[in-house]
Amino acid sequence: MPSNGLTDSPEWKALQEHACGASAIRTRALFEQDPERFDKFHIALDGLLFDYSKHPVTVETMTRLIALARAAELESWRDKMFAGAQINTTEDRAVLHTALRHSAPEGLEVDGENVAGFISNTHEHMRRYSESIRREGLIRDVVVIGIGGPNLGPNLVYEALSGPAGAPRVHFVSNIDGTHITQTLEPLSPDHTLFIISSKTFKTLETLENAQTAKGWLDDFQPGLSREHMAAVTTNREDAEAFGIAPSQIFPLREWIGGRYSLWSAVGLPIAIAHGFDQFEALLEGARTIDTHFQTAPLDRNIPVIMALLGLWHRNFRNCSAHAILPYAQKLSRLPAYIQQVDMESNGKNTDRDGIRVDYETGPVIFGGPGTDAQHAFFQLLHQGTDIIPSDFILVAHPDHGLDSHHRQLLASALAQTQALMEGRTSEPANDAPHRRFDGNRPVSTLILDQLDAYHLGMLLALYEHKIFVQGILWRLNSFDQWGVELGKTLAQDILHQLNPETTPTRANPPAPDPSTQNLATYLFKSFINS
Ligand code: F6P
Repeated sequence: MPSNGLTDSPEWKALQEHACGASAIRTRALFEQDPERFDKFHIALDGLLFDYSKHPVTVETMTRLIALARAAELESWRDKMFAGAQINTTEDRAVLHTALRHSAPEGLEVDGENVAGFISNTHEHMRRYSESIRREGLIRDVVVIGIGGPNLGPNLVYEALSGPAGAPRVHFVSNIDGTHITQTLEPLSPDHTLFIISSKTFKTLETLENAQTAKGWLDDFQPGLSREHMAAVTTNREDAEAFGIAPSQIFPLREWIGGRYSLWSAVGLPIAIAHGFDQFEALLEGARTIDTHFQTAPLDRNIPVIMALLGLWHRNFRNCSAHAILPYAQKLSRLPAYIQQVDMESNGKNTDRDGIRVDYETGPVIFGGPGTDAQHAFFQLLHQGTDIIPSDFILVAHPDHGLDSHHRQLLASALAQTQALMEGRTSEPANDAPHRRFDGNRPVSTLILDQLDAYHLGMLLALYEHKIFVQGILWRLNSFDQWGVELGKTLAQDILHQLNPETTPTRANPPAPDPSTQNLATYLFKSFINS
């Protein structure tokens, strides 16, 4: 098999060699050897603290990883992204979600359009629209219809932050399962409900089906109501207008905004409506702080770079195939699902940016859940399973409620878990029973936000974006396409046509499905029409 040469590079080999002795590295011993380890292995930045001292890595490990990053020309790739180069080569697109938080060079143009001008016009449109909705008070509920990027980001931020009393509530409908929209609409009143159809392409099956149902729901209540009570966020103005959205209620996207990186665009409209445009701006401001940090901090003091290098070390040299995201904040319950899309859709790839099949592991399985609930669900495996799973603990120092006792216990639980994962418990004689032994030495990062406000949330999300970018560069991937989701979409259309020949086929003479799929389709079709 041809190789892209990464695993033959001297920097990779140096890491391999270092990894041979790495199983002997005990984090506990590293703390004993160096009482200042915490000072050296943490970075504080504007109300955010990142501690990676609980990883079984040494200065030597980090030095060798940074050498790999330099050999990958990471800084040059980073600068290319910020400057609007077409680094998404399979789709011939620039990657400029950073521009949405004002981190683009002045005067930057893409396809003949001034990027800053486009962004300020769109933001101004969002500000005026969101303020008018809140001022008029007619709309009590906003239903966002979208899936993937347009769903996961706004949904996370909506739940993570709080809006003023009396602001519209926001609901999110993503699943094509009719239960989702049925249950969402049941308690709502059409004359007080606004739908936002959020889809970069305006072609996504789930979103269009749900949008049709919503339109019917509005127009059945009052003919023509959908014209006033539907807005859209899309690159595809033509289809949105053909669907019936009033042109003044279409908020534009651009091809250089990837769906999973689109939170900072008009996809954030529901946040502006529910929590206020100032909160949306604070979110952008937090992300901008991280953009600047990512662009200017030296690699060995650069939080997203270090997060990425640690992940790569565990993935490629320590055989870790999963990574846990553990927010100790109920309001961040949706964070694991959000990071899951950004990470797995970006770096879940086996072919490099030059089309060569890679001979090394790429993106890990991302999973997680909020602490302390997760402790009582899957932490057993984190502590005593046969796989080593690196984890990110995300804590908030100051609660936004008055239940101090709850908060102290929450923080103590989080810290105790990080301690147990790192230290383990092997030495106490009373605990000698094998089933009571904790090996410890599990890699743990701790991220602490001063508070869960829009600014710090923006920082947190941008950190993960850049971490994923760095890993993509080191793995030589195009992190900004997602061809792996296409085959299933095409086959679903074939099956749909087979189940119901009245639907328009998307391609002529599709190949017959395998016998399993064929028989299951027949079985389902029979039970569906007989029910
Ligand atoms: O699942 C593939 C995908 O293209 C995601 O990348 C995207 O977030 C989602 O579908 C929705 O796409 P759209 O915004 O075009 O409806």
